[in-house]
Amino acid sequence: MIIDCDPGVDDAVGLLLAFASPELEVLAVTTVGGNVPLEKTTRNARIIRQVAGRDEVPVYAGAAQPLKRDPAGAGEFHGAEGLGDLEAVEPDAPAAEGSAVEAIVRMVMGAEPKSVALAVMGPMTNLALALRAEPRLAERLGPVVVMGGARSEGGNITASAEFNIWADPEAAAEVFASGCEMVVFGLDATHQVRGTEERIAALEAVGNGPALTAAAMVRFSQRIERDIVGWDAAPLHDPCTVAWLLLPELFRLKPCLIEVETGSELTRGHTAVEFRVDPASARHLWAVEADGQGVFDLIAERLGAIR
Ligand code: RIB
Ligand code: CA
Repeated sequence: MIIDCDPGVDDAVGLLLAFASPELEVLAVTTVGGNVPLEKTTRNARIIRQVAGRDEVPVYAGAAQPLKRDPAGAGEFHGAEGLGDLEAVEPDAPAAEGSAVEAIVRMVMGAEPKSVALAVMGPMTNLALALRAEPRLAERLGPVVVMGGARSEGGNITASAEFNIWADPEAAAEVFASGCEMVVFGLDATHQVRGTEERIAALEAVGNGPALTAAAMVRFSQRIERDIVGWDAAPLHDPCTVAWLLLPELFRLKPCLIEVETGSELTRGHTAVEFRVDPASARHLWAVEADGQGVFDLIAERLGAIR
């Protein structure tokens, strides 16, 4: 699989879960500007790679800004450096030469059809650019597993849009219209996966570097959620993509057609999730239920196995 992300405290937990799971071969990590600028998301992906002891996995920097819009940021939810309170030291291993788009096209087109999944945990700019460069990706990619969008939950950056889609709605619109097979974890699902005190404590009890790092990420989100949103447990968004690849039974999905609003400033980035489709021909699946405890148990179990 390839992981496209904007670390980001929850991206970091998703990366750790993937790195800790031997059934997933992480071919590359690609980064995009999003929660924090590209320079920081790329450095942060390298930091998390080092925490997991996986410096052999290449990190390719991607788009610094959306296709058309000004760069957005969500630093208030991830801390100024993007990894909460974690000290942002310069990691040992550098980013790889070449771009995210080139790496995605090369790796997917060079592999058996449908053998490479792509997890997208940030704005969809890199995938949109890769599809423009090589439209055949849509048929060759394995599932494109996305954290993004909102239906019944409403938005988290505006009343009607979730951050990843809102940040680059044109990219998202192109990707959803591309023909890729997509499994989408919007706020409807991720809001069912919350970092309660008990779940954070269970991660801390695992006691090794990766688990303590994941716990620190979730605890940072807990504090921000209390301060900004007034809730006691923050949703853990991005790891739902990797958790589904590992244990699909943790989620319930429904076939649909997803389209993205780009013409209206008021509803920019809104995901229209239409369930009135023929299930046999639907290219999109929307997660309607998630087992929050199961996701956290999976993370604790896998991170605890990292030696
Ligand atoms: O809305 C949640 C998404 O926005 C997550 O991917 C989080 O990392 C932020 O990028
Ligand atoms: Ca993210």
